[in-house]
Amino acid sequence: MKENIIPHSYQVSQEDRRTSNKHNSFLLWFTGLSGSGKSTIANVVEQKLFEKGIKTYTLDGDNIRKGINNDLSFSPEDRTENIRRIAEVAGLMVDAGLVVLAAFVSPYKKDRDNIRRIVKDVNFVEVYINTSVEECERRDVKGLYKKARAGEIKNMTGISAPYEAPENPDIEIKTEQESVDKAVNRIIEFITPKLSRQS
Ligand code: ADX
Repeated sequence: MKENIIPHSYQVSQEDRRTSNKHNSFLLWFTGLSGSGKSTIANVVEQKLFEKGIKTYTLDGDNIRKGINNDLSFSPEDRTENIRRIAEVAGLMVDAGLVVLAAFVSPYKKDRDNIRRIVKDVNFVEVYINTSVEECERRDVKGLYKKARAGEIKNMTGISAPYEAPENPDIEIKTEQESVDKAVNRIIEFITPKLSRQS
């Protein structure tokens, strides 16, 4: 089947869309434990970009796991499939000319390496939201750590499932030492040259 799928070449290209938008498109990927602050930080970054007239979209558990990926669990295999589909969707959005923000636990290094392959290295910025499991458990915004400790949730990342921290992230945010504002400013500073059509 696959060999019979021959891509059509369309007249409007990714480059045309980027030129029309007056900025580059790429994927800003936030990884870290549940409750680490990924969505909070991504949300403020998106707001700042939006105010500058940058075309953005945020993918997170709420709009992905309740929709396109509502058939997936938290088993290692399903997490891999979760991240693969998100990377494919993000890749289309990057092709459409958007700056895509994605906030997912994405605990496995091989899955994050796969995103890099799917969207291409130059379009991928990895942000590691480094918050200790102790702090995430203390915050327990969604009450999931309590449930995991009670054995009501299996495969809980950081408790009963692994988290493989990035070894070489583009940006690392230690939320126990850095304010949201400072972290956001650092991310904006890092991506500003990447937004420019010259780079
Ligand atoms: S991932 O591991 O496949 O990347 P994803 O980011 O989509 O995970 O979803 C994680 C969110 O689902 C967490 O923030 C949390 O709210 C919720 N969740 C429910 N069960 C689990 C679990 N077993 N491990 C981690 N997160 C879980």
